[in-house]
This record gives sequence, C-alpha cells and structure tokens, in this order.
Amino acid sequence: MNFQLIEKLESFHDLEPEIEDFRSAVLRGLSAKNKYLPCKFFYDLRGSHLFDQICELDEYYVTRTEVGLLKENLAEITECLGPHCHLIEFGSGSSSKVRILLDEMEKPVGYTGIDISRDHLISSCAELSNLYPNLGVRAVCGDYSEALNIPALENSPGRPVAFFPGSSLGNFDETDAVNFLARVATFLSKSGGGLLIGIDLKKDEEILNAAYDDSKGITAAFNLNLLVRANEEIGAGFDLSAFDHRAFYNSRLGRIEMHLVSTKPQSVEIDDVTFSFIPGETIHTENSYKYSLKEFSSMCAKAGLQSTKVWRDSKDLFSVHYIENSKPGA
Ligand code: AVI
Repeated sequence: MNFQLIEKLESFHDLEPEIEDFRSAVLRGLSAKNKYLPCKFFYDLRGSHLFDQICELDEYYVTRTEVGLLKENLAEITECLGPHCHLIEFGSGSSSKVRILLDEMEKPVGYTGIDISRDHLISSCAELSNLYPNLGVRAVCGDYSEALNIPALENSPGRPVAFFPGSSLGNFDETDAVNFLARVATFLSKSGGGLLIGIDLKKDEEILNAAYDDSKGITAAFNLNLLVRANEEIGAGFDLSAFDHRAFYNSRLGRIEMHLVSTKPQSVEIDDVTFSFIPGETIHTENSYKYSLKEFSSMCAKAGLQSTKVWRDSKDLFSVHYIENSKPGA
C-alpha cells in the first residue's frame, strides 16, 4: 500500500474485501453445476487497467456515449446536483468521469470514491486530490454493493449525491439491482440527497456483441485475467491457452453474457480439490443487463425511487438519470 498517496487523502477506509473472499468465491463458483466466477473479481490492478483500455475502444460505445451525455447536458446536470454537494462514486475506478462534473459544479465540498481495487483506488483518489486541492477526497476500499453503511459516509459534509456511472448496475441481476437501489433509497431518505446513474439501453445485437468481443482482444484479456489472478493469488494451475473468451447477447434475458470456454478436456487443482472441464464447458464470468427506459423506471419504482430527469443520446444507445427518493423522509 502506498502511504505517501494515502496522506494526500482526507481519509482512507479499508473494509478489507478480497483475497480470502476470492479463494472461497473461486472454490464455490467452480463447484457449481454451471461453473461461474463473480465479475467483481475482474478488478485487480491489472484488470482495472484493462477495463480502462476497454473504455477507450471504438466498439465499446458505453463510455464515449455516457461522457458525451454528461458534457452535453452539464449545465442541467450540475443544477440537479446543486451547490455544496458531496459526490459518492460507486466503483470509482480511475475517477475520471467525475472530473467532468467537478469542473462545472458549484462549490463541491467532497468526493468519496468506493472501489474494490485498493491500489487503483488510492492512486486515482490521490490524483483527484492533487487536481482539486479544496475538495475533501475520501477513499473507501470495499465492495460497493455492500458499502452504504460506512462511517465515511455518515458524517460527510454537504448534500450527498451518489454517482454510479458506466451502467455498472447492469452487472447485477434484477433482484440484486432492485435491492441495491432500495439501499440507495434508504440512504437518500436519511440524507436528502440524489443519485446520478448511467444506464445502458437495449439496442441492435450487433452493436452489443462487438462491444463485448472487440477486435483488439482487450475484453478477452480482461476476461482471462480472472484465471491469471487465480493462478497468482490462490495457486490455481489454469492453462491460459486452453480457455477462450466468449461474449454474446442473450435476447431472452436481455443481457450480454461473458464466459471462459474450455477448449479441451482438462482439470485444475485448487486447495487439493480437482475441477474437471469437458471441451466446450464454460465458466460464466459476467452478465451485463441492458434495459429499456420503461424497464429501468419500473425497477426504480420497486425500490422507492423516482427518476426525475433523463438524458439520452440521439441514437438511444445510453441514458443518464437523476433520481431522488420518491418518499422523502421515509
Ligand atoms: C463495468 N461494467 C459496466 C462493464 C459492462 O459493460 O458491463 C464491464 C465490462 N465487461 C466487459 N466489458 C466491459
């Protein structure tokens, strides 16, 4: 851990997610009838850098379109955020999109980045703190799907606005997504804040498939990095050349699925347990749900939230929503 960088922050809270979790998640996921690995483990330092490269790809329209929406509608968006706002970013990664907001916001008082990738979080938040010396920058290393009841958020200054860009909500299944939104709703009802969230929209399958199976193979490397991690961190012996990346849109379930496909019969040993693979068998590594505006607004309603304002691009690829609690004080 880089203590010099931590000193640049107003505070650093380590909720200590990870290695033990990763080991048990791998053992659990590979023991299931349909093998899977949770997508939150993509984001170690190398995975986070690969994800940053994905965001730059021509095929991955998500980042480009969301950034365009934030920039084109900045005046309206920052009016919703209001003065003296404390932005809390879930899955803050490289904390780059937030700069678009901070440059325009009226007297922002604080920023809290929450991310599972400790080193990437610390360096990104320290960089933000250098760029905005008057902003109290806090970093919380943790799983943002669980990290709403943390001291760093309870006594934070200003009006809190949760910032959840990139359509990361799409990586939850529907029940978890509604539960997450309901936890945000409870937090907002206590704090009187808002939520600014990016949601990817349903669209032509070809655009979706290309976005998750890019021609440079960066998404493939991002997917395979889960096995690299397993080899390095928990001593698994995956043969990386014997697994392929597969990504496709499942129109029945409204989601992109990512898998790692075993290309031959093989077995892998972890902690004295042997996991066998037949050719073509997959490890399901990620779902990325795509929503229509109607589907998303009904999820918000189930969670007690009301989408106040929606911005979307001219091709209807992506949407950004500003949301408040539909039952203030509830
Ligand atoms: C972080 N999340 C919203 C990305 C997505 O589009 O579902 C993760 C990703 N997986 C492959 N490419 C990008």
